[in-house]
Amino acid sequence: MQEKNNSIDVVPTHVALIMDGNGRWAEQRKRPRLFGHKAGVDSVRIIVEAARNIGVKHLTLYAFSTENWQRPGVEVKGLMSLLKTYLQVELKKMLKNGICLQCFGQMKRLPPDVQDVLNTVISDTRHCRDMRLNLALSYGARAELVAGVRDIARKCCAGDLQPDEIDDSLLSDHLYSQGQPDPDLLIRTGGEKRLSNFLLWQLSYAEIYFTETMWPDFHEQQFLEALKEFSIRQRRFGKTGAQLAAQ
Ligand code: IPE
Ligand code: IPE
Ligand code: MG
Repeated sequence: MQEKNNSIDVVPTHVALIMDGNGRWAEQRKRPRLFGHKAGVDSVRIIVEAARNIGVKHLTLYAFSTENWQRPGVEVKGLMSLLKTYLQVELKKMLKNGICLQCFGQMKRLPPDVQDVLNTVISDTRHCRDMRLNLALSYGARAELVAGVRDIARKCCAGDLQPDEIDDSLLSDHLYSQGQPDPDLLIRTGGEKRLSNFLLWQLSYAEIYFTETMWPDFHEQQFLEALKEFSIRQRRFGKTGAQLAAQ
């Protein structure tokens, strides 16, 4: 799913982003990792605004993985505190810009004060329609799939569902992204070329864009470059190029 835009030929409906490289960015500057995470928050602000203005309808940001809980306690604490401040400060702007917030992930594992702010922003922005912002927090795709499969199994055991009724769309309906289209484009900053347990089901047919740019240096211009690259890719979904040309 994608639509036309004047400056970029084809705007992806859903962009997913692995925001990586904050720590290395800070280390290159001989500063603590948290300095990089702080700078990373500025990039989040810039990209959310740019995405909304260009007509992206769903933006999913990988902010904290289930595996990131293994990081040193001070880093985790610092990240949670940055997240809380970000949400508190941005609520007004989200309302003004019509941005609806959702959380993908195990919200219950977040500190209670962060959960409170998150719940407030989610509920206050529920009516917003310009762009959906999904923050992946304490998110892991395998845990998401396991939880979804458990839900489905429970329904089968209760007799509310037959195994033959399980198909792609039913499984999609049991994930955090339920009701949203799959990402058209995945961007990963920071130079690594891996998925790191992000949206393993939903990214099946996403175009993937890797960049060496560290997340704190990823601003509107870098985002537009990724969108330009996306707009010239031919998405074949298993068909031949000739079949697509004939459509
Ligand atoms: C991404 O940057 C932010 C989070 C994972 C929370 P990193 O903290 O992973 O930065 P690098 O990869 O160590 O540079
Ligand atoms: C992926 O980055 C998770 C987020 C961006 C939140 P990581 O830095 O945690 O990924 P790995 O460990 O390099 O795969
Ligand atoms: Mg990293």
